[in-house]
Amino acid sequence: MITLALSKGRIFDETLPLLRAAGIEVLEDPETSRKLILATNKADLRVVLVRATDVPTYVEYGGADLGITGRDTLIEHGGQGLYQPLDLDIARCRISVAVRKDFDYASAVRQGSRLRVATKYVAIARDFFATKGVHVDLIKLYGSMELAPLTGLADAIVDLVSTGNTLKANDLVEVETIMDISARLVVNQAALKLKQAALRQTIDGFAAALRQAPDRNS
Ligand code: PRP
Repeated sequence: MITLALSKGRIFDETLPLLRAAGIEVLEDPETSRKLILATNKADLRVVLVRATDVPTYVEYGGADLGITGRDTLIEHGGQGLYQPLDLDIARCRISVAVRKDFDYASAVRQGSRLRVATKYVAIARDFFATKGVHVDLIKLYGSMELAPLTGLADAIVDLVSTGNTLKANDLVEVETIMDISARLVVNQAALKLKQAALRQTIDGFAAALRQAPDRNS
């Protein structure tokens, strides 16, 4: 049995067409079913639904043989022990620095001010500001990052931006892009040896599906 870990929402929705192109149908809809283990039309492949941030953990410890997760989550997790054979080019977005419209970020950086930055992406933010030589106090949040500059909790946030609508709705502006994000296939290294044939087939199925639809996001 091969177990694929997915998270509900955008990753699940954008993975379905790739699975379909690889001849795999998930037999239940996570939006209507409360089940966490979903069968597929392949007797030896099942999907498990986990929180996005837990996908690397499931794959690292063998709770799943492979998983699909954003580059952001992988970097924060550290990616230890995970084989990362494919960028699936789905769930594309970026991680950016954003501030209130009336905050002069460029001049704060120029003057060497110490910035308070709220984020869920502490490792990515730490690395980015260290490379820039900007001193920051990082405040770890788990969601609603946009609120931090509006309430005076922070000067800036580091967060995912996709359409930019959430920033706009909260009167924030994007001042720097840190990196582009897309979802990656990750594989448990031990499983790759123990279940080599079945996993290779699944990985090759994803690779072929990607080749069939190289520009579906553009
Ligand atoms: C992400 C991110 C922003 C929003 C950006 O949140 O944290 O809030 O999407 O998207 P936009 O640029 O298209 O408006 P998500 O919905 O993934 O939930 P989260 O706050 O739980 O991370």
